[in-house]
Amino acid sequence: MAFGFFKKKKKEGAREHYYSLAIKEVVKETADAITIVFEQPETPIEYKAGQFLTLIADINGESVRRAYSLSSSPYIEKDLAVTIKRVKGGVMSNYLNDTAKAGDVMKVMEPMGHFTTEFTADNKRHIVMFGGGSGITPLMSHAKSTMVQEPYSIVSLIYANRDINSIIFKETLRDLETKYEGRFRVIHILDNAPLEWQGPSGLLNHEMLTDLFERIPNWGIDKTTYIMCGPEGMMNNVETLLEKQNIPADRIFKESFVAGTINKESSTDTDVEISTQTVTIVYDDEEYEVVVNPNTHILDAALDMDIDLPYSCQSGLCTACRGKCVSGKVKMDEEEGLSQAEKDAGYVLPCVSHPLTDDVKIEIG
Ligand code: FES
Repeated sequence: MAFGFFKKKKKEGAREHYYSLAIKEVVKETADAITIVFEQPETPIEYKAGQFLTLIADINGESVRRAYSLSSSPYIEKDLAVTIKRVKGGVMSNYLNDTAKAGDVMKVMEPMGHFTTEFTADNKRHIVMFGGGSGITPLMSHAKSTMVQEPYSIVSLIYANRDINSIIFKETLRDLETKYEGRFRVIHILDNAPLEWQGPSGLLNHEMLTDLFERIPNWGIDKTTYIMCGPEGMMNNVETLLEKQNIPADRIFKESFVAGTINKESSTDTDVEISTQTVTIVYDDEEYEVVVNPNTHILDAALDMDIDLPYSCQSGLCTACRGKCVSGKVKMDEEEGLSQAEKDAGYVLPCVSHPLTDDVKIEIG
């Protein structure tokens, strides 16, 4: 057993977790969103539609890392692209919108995330997508990939934005509709619609959803999948509305990309007692023992010991740190990032987890 007091040297043949990627191009999508296209290295980085890259940058003397969904399709574009919208107070998003340029080199983590699907050429399904603002990015990757990987499947994208100028990929979406007429359809919804706007506007409520469902093809529940990415409020709303339409939960998939508010210092659940425990973590075929105090989470305790575990949001949303708890019990302060099926299978997010027993063992990767 190895104790993780020092950062370990990478084993020969071990999987690469970090890359230095050159920016090939920065595309201005809207007044406050850019797409950064990274040049593939000599040995191309593999990824799946719906995964994200974690970008790492030194900003004002601090190492900052943030996860951004890949908007490129691994089946179409040679390079990797992430699309980043400015966020009020967003350290990384504002920094990159202000400074990123072709030729810059950025440190990134390997693509991660489980908002993915298996594409099969003879699949015949209807994918209904709900996107809000920059939540379009993973949906874009899914939509493009579906068009080329599943010639019998169709996509209906319902895309909500503040106003017409904040629509990311407006032209690209129009081009896709033309190229894949009959298979790819976009319905834009605007909060502030111009006078001449003929599409839906306002809140995505029950009435609007019912109306939208009448406008998209009905392939029946068994052949339809619903995927969504956008602000938390929008996704909660859509989920509730889909439930009211009797759509089973196992047909609905979502990507939470907006950080939630959690108490990083301590658990608020008074039913469980959290005490100092030693947790075993298995990562990259190495085993570490990490002492976790009640006021810290398992990931933080491991990072304090200089164990180089994967992570990004540290808020229980991106799943970059996901591991399987193979023994013992943990309590998560935030469960939003995992589906019920993942939780049932024993997956946990160490960045928001406390060990409850003295035999917790988590396998990561
Ligand atoms: S680091 Fe994002 S869920 Fe743990």
